[in-house]
Parts: sequence; C-alpha cells; structure tokens
Amino acid sequence: MKLFKKLGVDLGTANSVIWEAGEGIVLDEPSVVAVGLEDKKVVAVGNEAKLMVGKTPEYIEVVKPLREGVVADYDVTEAMLKFFLRKVMGAAWLVGPEVLVCVPAGVTQVEQRAVLDAVLSAGARKAHLIDEPLAAAIGAKIPVAEAFGNMIVDIGGGSCEAAVIALGGVVTHSSVRVGGDKLNEAIGAYVRKHHNLDIGEQTAETIKIKIGSAIKLKRPETMEVSGRDTVFGLPKTLNVSSEEVWEAINEPMMQMIGSIREALELTPPELVADIVDRGIVLSGGSSQLRNFDQLVTREIGVSAHVAIEPQYCVIRGTGAAIENLELYWRTIK
Ligand SMILES: Nc1ncnc2c1ncn2[C@@H]1O[C@H](COP(=O)(O)OP(=O)(O)OP(=O)(O)O)[C@@H](O)[C@H]1O
Ligand SMILES: [Mg+2]
Repeated sequence: MKLFKKLGVDLGTANSVIWEAGEGIVLDEPSVVAVGLEDKKVVAVGNEAKLMVGKTPEYIEVVKPLREGVVADYDVTEAMLKFFLRKVMGAAWLVGPEVLVCVPAGVTQVEQRAVLDAVLSAGARKAHLIDEPLAAAIGAKIPVAEAFGNMIVDIGGGSCEAAVIALGGVVTHSSVRVGGDKLNEAIGAYVRKHHNLDIGEQTAETIKIKIGSAIKLKRPETMEVSGRDTVFGLPKTLNVSSEEVWEAINEPMMQMIGSIREALELTPPELVADIVDRGIVLSGGSSQLRNFDQLVTREIGVSAHVAIEPQYCVIRGTGAAIENLELYWRTIK
C-alpha cells in the first residue's frame, strides 16, 4: 500500500471520478448527497444517494452540490469529497493525498478558491487546479503541446464548454450552462405540456438515452413511458416518439452549438485553419447523445467526432497530469 497517494479528481455536476496515480480510475459515482432536512446530517453519498432521487421521505433531501461545474453548496461539496476521498484512501487516510482537481476554464478566482478549500478541508495534504478543457484534450489523446490549434468540446451534465488548445494551454473558450441536465428538464417539460404527464428526472434521462437524437432520426422510434396524469392525478402510461424528444431538446442543443460558434469567433484565424484541418473533438457524457457529432459537423461546417470513452476524457487527462506534474507545471495552478 502506498502511503503518499496522488489523486486526480473530476468533480462534475453529474458524476465525480477519481484517478489514483499508478492505478487508474478508482471511483466513479454520481455527485449526489442525501441530507436530513432538519439536522443537515449526511444520510447517503454517491451511488447510494442517487438511488434515492425522487423517492425520499419528507425529512430527507437529495442535493447535487455542484452546478455548472462549480461549487453551489460548499458544505455539502466538502462532505461529499471527504466521503469519496476516504473511500479511495482506505487505511492510507492518515497521510492526506496530493490532489489535482479540474475546474472549467471560465471560473472566477473565488470559485477556484472554493474548490481548493473544499479539497483541502476534505483532507487533502496539497491541492492544485488544472483547466478542465486542457484535461479533456489530454485525455482525448490530442497532442496539446504542439503549435497547432485543436478544439475540444466537453458536454457534461451541467455545462457545455468549447475550447481551443495550443502550445499546452487554453487559447480561447466559451461555455453555456446547458448540459445533459437541461436536456432532461426539456424532455420533462415537453411531456408535461403535450401529454399532461408528470415524469421524474430519471425517466426523462432514460428517454433521452434510449430514443434521443441530436438530429432527426430517419426511422423514428418510440418508447413506453409511465408517470402521473397532471389532470386526474392517476398513473398513466403512453408512448413518446423520438421526433417529440428531438423537438423537446432542439433548443438547448442549439445553445450548445452557439458556444462552439462563439469560441471559434474568438479564435485567431491561423488556429481556426488548424481546426478545420484537424476537426473538432467531443468529450463528456452528453457527447454520447446519438448523432451529436453529426449535428456539430452540420451546424459548424467542420467535421466533428466523439472521443473514445468520452465521459472519462477529463479524468484521464487529470490523471496523466498528476502523474507527470513536472510536464504540466506551467498550466497547473
Ligand atoms: N448515452 C447517453 N446519451 C446522452 N446523454 C448521456 C448518455 N450517457 C450519459 N449521458 C449524460 O451525460 C451527463 C453526464 O456527463 P458527465 O459525467 O460528463 O458530466 P459531469 O462531468 O458530471 O458534468 P459537468 O462536466 O457539466 O460538470 C448526464 O447528463 C447524462 O444524462
Ligand atoms: Mg465534466
């Protein structure tokens, strides 16, 4: 057992993933905490807490302490981090780990400080920060150190962040606070409005993953969905089509496309030329939405492709950076 552990942490809006230097991914759990409403005591964290979403008794509340990639509820974030760090540290806990956490490129100094403080007070001995788009690019195997422009777009649960990387750093970036969560919300709102059916967040997510598509499917699909009738208050089951889902999510999808367009508009022409040559790489869990790459290609006019295991690009890059801190020192804060 190693006493001095080095960890990379991707503290995402939807999922937290931890990498241990020399080992790889050692934890992958939802960023969810169940807390008692009155005493604010933590009831469950991660996988266990996610199972409670939408099913808790009155006195328990399920909280997602991060919003759009930044700390929204400091105390709950700290409690969650402590739980996750203890879980991966095991008996090595006595000596706090050295931790590298990624943060979105656009966060303020205050938001950066909040992440560092949460990691330190959760028990880390040392804490550093790395830009999330850079981590995503390293994890997507993009040669980040070269004097060429590369574009990476990370679409997670809470945000879509487009960035151009060159010479080992983020040159331009643009993000919108629209990610997979907003797509789920849009599906829920659509089904309520057009079918008078109330569905839970989990159901909306399942619909998105099963029959959602960024561009209209040539052969439409349907799915049976259950919920509560908003008029009669009774259980109801009906069919939802992929066309309806497309209609529901199209607007938030276009907001994501807008952020890619904006990042490109800010980019110097030489680098834009490189991106046209090399294409756009998509990462993050939401890039797995069917045909996302095709929508980007069509709307931006530059070929786009989804990285391998896109949901793990950020953590792989953060992991590579904590294992080779000397290589990346220039970009680590
Ligand atoms: N097959 C799929 N199709 C569409 N969306 C998916 C699929 N699989 C996962 N997702 C979505 O990916 C999102 C989570 O992605 P990820 O783990 O990258 O987010 P995160 O890093 O926690 O969030 P953020 O980076 O915004 O803080 C969820 O909204 C989830 O619904
Ligand atoms: Mg993420």
